[in-house]
Amino acid sequence: MKSCIVGYGSIGPIHANAVKMSEFGEIEAICDVRNSRADQGAVQMGCRAIYSFEDVLKDPCIDVVHICTPHNLHVEMACQALAAGKHVVLEKPVAITQNELQKLIDADRKSKAELCVSLQNRTNICVRKMQEIIKSDSSIGKLIGVSGFLVWNRDATYYNQDAWRGNWKTEGGSLLCNQAVHIIDLMHVFAGNAKRLRSSISTKAMDGIIETEDTADVLIEFENGVRGIFFGTNAYVTSNPNVLELDFENVRFRYADQALYRIEEGAPATVVATDVAPQIGKNVWGNGHLSAIEQFYRHLILGSENYLTLESALPSAKSILAMYESGKSGGEWVEVDK
Ligand SMILES: NC(=O)c1ccc[n+]([C@@H]2O[C@H](COP(=O)([O-])OP(=O)(O)OC[C@H]3O[C@@H](n4cnc5c(N)ncnc54)[C@H](O)[C@@H]3O)[C@@H](O)[C@H]2O)c1
Repeated sequence: MKSCIVGYGSIGPIHANAVKMSEFGEIEAICDVRNSRADQGAVQMGCRAIYSFEDVLKDPCIDVVHICTPHNLHVEMACQALAAGKHVVLEKPVAITQNELQKLIDADRKSKAELCVSLQNRTNICVRKMQEIIKSDSSIGKLIGVSGFLVWNRDATYYNQDAWRGNWKTEGGSLLCNQAVHIIDLMHVFAGNAKRLRSSISTKAMDGIIETEDTADVLIEFENGVRGIFFGTNAYVTSNPNVLELDFENVRFRYADQALYRIEEGAPATVVATDVAPQIGKNVWGNGHLSAIEQFYRHLILGSENYLTLESALPSAKSILAMYESGKSGGEWVEVDK
């Protein structure tokens, strides 16, 4: 597969390196509207530089387009790429409005090309291990609760580095749809579709600096009766690893600090799996870009493996949109779109 990375800011180089390390991909071009970034990427990757997305769409040598641009460009670019017959790796969040999300679903269904979402934490060893345990060990009982905690730091320097950050129109929200999207997605991987939820969103440390939220708490009722709790803030002094807890009838699992712990009443916690340290990118991003991209490319070439489909991202994507609806309405219950 010959690929083009569109948007060569902080995450674009991670995609480029992951493609380069994949057995099934090669970097054909780097595209960025900031010419100097495209040029820099082309030198780093030993490929062509392209300065406009329209040229990417027209380029017959490009099979896969990685969309690593600001949030408000995701859906438009993904739809255009799919219509041009290009496969797509789409960075999160998949969409920042309901209308956009529907447009993307329709374009994905209509196209013969395929779309993979960058929810790479799902490929982490601990997440896979937890899924295996659920399938194979009925003694843990039914899942009854899932909680997610995110305590990170995103300060004024972070928000001021790019004009698209911290605005409803271009980022579409901050804490929930940007930083917390991964842990919220994992909550849905284990608990399934949400039925309804209520949330509070606020701007604590970045008040007056950004218009979007830096802090949120959410109560979720899943369709299967599982209760979900999420708390997250970007207002802390540092970015600590997320914590995900799954409460089954007979045992609790905690995924934290890149380890999965099994916790039983009256006994010390035991480690049942550990993730590998990221080979590229920041610790909080996880190692998943490598495995998620490899998995998708393997699927495109061999047609065999599972990959991170848009369909699989819909439960968390719809919930996050509902969290904004509820948060903006003062915390009312909101039914999550089916
Ligand atoms: N999956 C993850 O863990 C993870 C981590 C970080 C960022 N991200 C996501 O990646 C995306 C990009 O984030 P970032 O931090 O790299 O942003 P960034 O601002 O650092 O980079 C975006 C790049 O896109 C370029 N760009 C803007 N408009 C363009 C256009 N029309 N055509 C081509 N290039 C264009 C910009 O010039 C910039 O270089 C966001 O959706 C973000 O949420 C995901």
